[in-house]
Amino acid sequence: MLMLMLLPLGGLKAQQVGTFEAGKNEFMLNGKPYIIRAGELHYSRIPREYWDHRIKMAKAMGMNTVCIYLFWNFHEQQEGVFDFTGQKDVAEFVRLIQKNGMYCILRPGPYVCAEWDMGGLPWWLLKKKDLQVRRRSDEFFMSKVKTYLNEAGKQLAPLQIQNGGPIIMVQVENEYGTWGSDGKYMEIMRDNIREAGFDKAQLLRCDWSSNFYKYKLDGAVNALNFGAGSNIDDQFRKFKEMNPTSPLMCGEYWTGWFDQWGRPHETRNINSFIGSLKDMMDRKISFSLYMAHGGTSFAQWAGANAPAYAPTTSSYDYNAPIDEAGNPTDKFYAIRDLLKNYLQEGETLPDIPQNPEKTITIPAINFTQTANLFENLPTAKQSETVKPMEFFDQGWGSIIYRKTIPACKDKQKLIIKDVHDWATVFINGKAIAKLDRRRSENTVEIPVLKSKARLDILVEGMGRVNYGEAIIDRKGITEKVLLSDGKTETDLKDWTIFNLPVDYNFQIKAKFNTKFVTGPAWYKATFNLTETGYTYLNMSTWGKGMVWVNGFNLGRFWKIGPTQTLCVPGCFLKKGENEIIVFDIDKPTATSIEGLNHAILDKIGKDDSQQQKPAKSLNLNGVNPVASGSLPVGSGWKNVDLEEQTNGRYFCFEAMSAQDPNDPSTSVAEFEILGEDGKTISSINWKVVFVDSEETVKAANGADKLFDIQESIIWQTKIGSKAKHPHQVVIDMGKKVKVKGFRILPRSDKSNVGVVKDYRFYLQENPFKF
Ligand code: GLA
Repeated sequence: MLMLMLLPLGGLKAQQVGTFEAGKNEFMLNGKPYIIRAGELHYSRIPREYWDHRIKMAKAMGMNTVCIYLFWNFHEQQEGVFDFTGQKDVAEFVRLIQKNGMYCILRPGPYVCAEWDMGGLPWWLLKKKDLQVRRRSDEFFMSKVKTYLNEAGKQLAPLQIQNGGPIIMVQVENEYGTWGSDGKYMEIMRDNIREAGFDKAQLLRCDWSSNFYKYKLDGAVNALNFGAGSNIDDQFRKFKEMNPTSPLMCGEYWTGWFDQWGRPHETRNINSFIGSLKDMMDRKISFSLYMAHGGTSFAQWAGANAPAYAPTTSSYDYNAPIDEAGNPTDKFYAIRDLLKNYLQEGETLPDIPQNPEKTITIPAINFTQTANLFENLPTAKQSETVKPMEFFDQGWGSIIYRKTIPACKDKQKLIIKDVHDWATVFINGKAIAKLDRRRSENTVEIPVLKSKARLDILVEGMGRVNYGEAIIDRKGITEKVLLSDGKTETDLKDWTIFNLPVDYNFQIKAKFNTKFVTGPAWYKATFNLTETGYTYLNMSTWGKGMVWVNGFNLGRFWKIGPTQTLCVPGCFLKKGENEIIVFDIDKPTATSIEGLNHAILDKIGKDDSQQQKPAKSLNLNGVNPVASGSLPVGSGWKNVDLEEQTNGRYFCFEAMSAQDPNDPSTSVAEFEILGEDGKTISSINWKVVFVDSEETVKAANGADKLFDIQESIIWQTKIGSKAKHPHQVVIDMGKKVKVKGFRILPRSDKSNVGVVKDYRFYLQENPFKF
């Protein structure tokens, strides 16, 4: 029989102690079957003032549980210094969940992904030169994780349901199957969590239907993550076979998707989203909506994906049911309408709470005060070699590498290895080139120098990679700078370094005046308000940089879009005078900013980084495929072995037909090359050399999505195009490898459009001809 006890809990009324566990085929709450309807919210992406409102919104949408990540790097920004106060008071967020009569799923990582800088891992780990993360072999990493989890336990273990709190489950790590298969590592993480005080809560793990079986973890129930419109039968088929008595749960049902700079805005269709959600409800499958409300990755917190480095925008609107400012969207109403039919006995849907903030507009703010970057540099440091910013004890922002280079009668080449992530090269203060890591740009032509010259390389670090192998992602210049006269390459030494952090206190040190500036500079203005509320600053005439309003760092802007606005929560503003500072490392075309009553999330702007002209067509005359055939119908990975192992650096995948004979298009979710041991070869340095057709306007479905290790994101040929097969993509793997075969994953949503039937596969050591 269930014993309900009353426990006193810090700051809260006496709470009822309860139980929660994964039973046979169902979750059991206080001894009764329970279907989890969770919505994910991130306390770090919502100003504390609105925590309660967003929790209430989630409940009004039909949720009974709030799922949260704990962001290690948010709490330990400096090694050994933990902060759980104010905006970081996560225990208060969890108590609010309980006050609202909801339960909580806690996901403390240590790795969380979440489009958050370095996936939640602290930047200072990178000061260790040979750092390994998410691996047992790095004792430093493992011991720092342990300390962090213990701190998390002190804050949150008292809030487990068995102690009278709302936490029903605690997740171990995050999607570990996308990274590795070391069950021992996961066991240590599980034990760390237990030893940190989470010794009673039901443990959880989440993975994908394609990789959950890569490791075992006793004591944790297993949820699967997948996107809007997925085929539920397909997703759970293999899992049910292997876990016939496990309750079923979608650990993250993606309501939308995140945006990346320079790529079209992501949206997910309401009908297909609702269709699969209904499907889950009809089958009594528990779920967590990722995200119920995304909010904003303020300041420097937005992360990045790779391969093909793709930084995430600061808006984390996510096309989620609750928009960036906390207002309901059509998706919200559709979810509420559906879920009202699936409530537990005795449960009612509360009214939709009113947003504590209205949305306001602000007339154009004109900037008259300026401060040129080069006239406002901080104290310099000297360094023999070029090093990334972490080795100068800098976590985020920009960095300048300066040195004098000798006169030279000829043009020279400057090769920067590697630019993380966006650089401007200046000779005697004049910008001569911009380099963009998204395009692997690293070479600049230096003009004839009549006398010695001052070289400045200004590098801005954008989001750290939060997913996959590239997660060890130091910022600035990572290795070296070479100067080449065509005959010899000199490794440049003896640099002067200027660190430009993102802290507000650093920005206000600049000496403002009213001079006209070009190039990297700060701009400052004040504006008066008679009322406050949410507003969206229209940054579309500005170049690239960050904005601070009354000391709050709003995040990054970049003219290439698709986000053109920066969201300002009402609580950052005040009646009367407000201050705004813009740091633009590129250059604005007009220096005024208006506050809009809506976000602009879908406007791709001009991208003036060096772009190579794509080849028009591929010439396969005389080239023989090393494999050809027909792929079977159906979901899941398909393996193809070459007749004999073949060496090559460049491959071409050619789709000859689709499963539907009348379908002229091609789509592929993932493509992997298998090395001689049959294992997947890293795609970290792959580049698309050619593709005959890709959708990069109506959707973010470019050819690099073939190897972005995100199974739910696909490459597809231009939507609506009648161009017929064959469709070809050529990839440079960066080095020669011995290839045993390849494997290919078709799209996993309910659509069959473009799914490949007949194919040819070419592989060679030399580049293909165009
Ligand atoms: C995965 C991760 C999440 C998030 C989503 C994409 O499921 O677990 O943290 O990155 O992808 O938004």
